[in-house]
Amino acid sequence: MRIVKTITGLRKILSRNPGPVGFVPTMGYFHEGHLALMRRAKKENACCVASIFVNPLQFGPSEDLDLYPRDLERDQRLARSSGVDILFVPEVSEMYPAGEPFSFVDVKHITDSLCGSARPGHFRGVATVVAKLLHIVQPRAMYLGQKDAQQVAVLTRMVRELSFPVKVVVCSTVREADGLAMSSRNSRLTPSERLQAPALYQALSRARALCAAGERDAAKIIFKIKKLLLDATSATIEYVACVNVVDLQTVRRINGDVLIALAVRFPSARLIDNTLIKYADGKKAAK
Ligand code: PAF
Repeated sequence: MRIVKTITGLRKILSRNPGPVGFVPTMGYFHEGHLALMRRAKKENACCVASIFVNPLQFGPSEDLDLYPRDLERDQRLARSSGVDILFVPEVSEMYPAGEPFSFVDVKHITDSLCGSARPGHFRGVATVVAKLLHIVQPRAMYLGQKDAQQVAVLTRMVRELSFPVKVVVCSTVREADGLAMSSRNSRLTPSERLQAPALYQALSRARALCAAGERDAAKIIFKIKKLLLDATSATIEYVACVNVVDLQTVRRINGDVLIALAVRFPSARLIDNTLIKYADGKKAAK
């Protein structure tokens, strides 16, 4: 595995034509979710490129940029054993040499709701850095995790509307044995918060069961999820929403494919999770 710190260095290696590239953009502190993306990128492409860059543009002034967990040595080991051929680890000064850039990529409307309303500017930062990384790496495919469902929707829209020649491959959320969606931020939970955190998955599973039993009223499902979260955790609920999977608009009735998404704040970390409800035949919830 090559470790590359500069854009010029990466472009030079990639210009030697390593074959189709599968790209996994990350902010590091790898967990099994990241490694699954890397293994799939390697399996489906001649060359797997992963990036580690804690992107300051996507953190608000009161957010956890400085606290974001980092362990480059461990990440290098894990990336190597997961099939990564090239690990791109630029410094902030390499990606943004003049400080905050003048040029941004702004994906409108679908960035206003859900995480976007609590984190203004977050998706502008994500879209900008991913656009820049795609220009540098020029992959055949980019691998993203379903856990960040809004990020998937935003980047899929950006890729399509700005004609990036890249396929977006979305991989299932990887979970701990107790259902908690894997996330680098889980490492910041206190023992007590960690014990409470599986309630997110339990609430989403309950929502799936209600949908499968024929419940179509989004408000009722949201109410049940909120109640479960309030009963089982001390977290503050940021949002629980039922939205259309394509444009993330709120739905009142669960009739088509719907994303049920939530975010909560524990004092030590903010957690998100979601589940995709597919109404294959308009009646039954598909897996
Ligand atoms: O999901 C992440 O880790 C980040 O938002 C991404 C896609 C690497 C952009 O910084």
